[in-house]
Amino acid sequence: MSKKIILSGARPTGDIHLGNYFGALENWVRLQDSYDCHFFIADWHALTTGYADTAGLPEYTISLMADFMACGLDPERSVLFLQSQVMEHAELFLLFSMLTPLPWLERCPTYKDQLSQLKDKDITTYGFLGYPCLQAADILAYKADFVPVGEDQLPHLELTREIARRFNFLYGPVFPEPQPLLTKSRVLPGTDGRKMSKSYNNTISFADPPDVVRKKVMSMVTDPARIRKNDPGHPEVCSVYAFHKIFSPDEVDDIGDQCRAGTIGCVACKKKLQEKLLAFHEPIHAKRARLLQDKSGLQALIAAGSAKARTQAAATLAETRRAMNLGT
Ligand code: TRP
Ligand code: SF4
Repeated sequence: MSKKIILSGARPTGDIHLGNYFGALENWVRLQDSYDCHFFIADWHALTTGYADTAGLPEYTISLMADFMACGLDPERSVLFLQSQVMEHAELFLLFSMLTPLPWLERCPTYKDQLSQLKDKDITTYGFLGYPCLQAADILAYKADFVPVGEDQLPHLELTREIARRFNFLYGPVFPEPQPLLTKSRVLPGTDGRKMSKSYNNTISFADPPDVVRKKVMSMVTDPARIRKNDPGHPEVCSVYAFHKIFSPDEVDDIGDQCRAGTIGCVACKKKLQEKLLAFHEPIHAKRARLLQDKSGLQALIAAGSAKARTQAAATLAETRRAMNLGT
């Protein structure tokens, strides 16, 4: 029996941090065991909001590939590729744009949110409105069965299914209706207790060297009610404790008890976390750095993965053109 097809992507807009890892990548790595996986760097999607400044794209693209691989995505087992090296996505995007009603795009919640939030950029563009249509092309070019994404992406998946349905209705059955794969992910707050996000400046990324990770741990926000070392604490409001849940599973219950009893101080608690966190972080950081020493090697892997993706997407496009009576 052939494996079910998975596809997901990430925009090359910065270094992968622990929030990204536990929110998505950890799952992607695991999915490689049982699915036919495709993971890609969505550089065209980065243009939808970042078209005016593309200077960082080459570096972000290469470092995202390094992040992918350092975290455990394996180019031998998964197709790892770059969107802009697979022109078929653009062709399918164009064809879908012909049959996607404008109101479907205009009522997309991510569209409305971003328009009101990204005030410093002019995103009243055709490309930004078409974002979900491009995403549908990414997914349907491989006839993906499942798309592992966060909840924020569910409206885009809904639109992907609507576009597939409309296409199949108009031209005959070509596309499946891909389902989201909402595997439970582990939530890790940022160093300040809010959601970990680049825009909050509260991330720990795999690009951070060990001494920076140590400093960031020491600066983490703890229970504000603890002023003296012996004050009883409330671990559930503390981001250090949230980290211990992931990095010190054997000790986390003890740590919670000691915190509540006021028998462990925050400095000692953070020192413990430094060691646990670095035992996880350091090998990934080191692998990432090693990979980035050979940029042309990474580029060659991206090119090889993209060639593989192209072969698959080309087969879908041939079928799509045939269904639409194009090119003959
Ligand atoms: N929109 C996704 C994000 O911002 C990235 C993305 C682009 C994607 N195309 C995709 C994700 C296709 C899954 C499938 O995270
Ligand atoms: Fe947080 Fe640990 Fe301090 Fe308790 S002792 S508040 S868990 S850092």
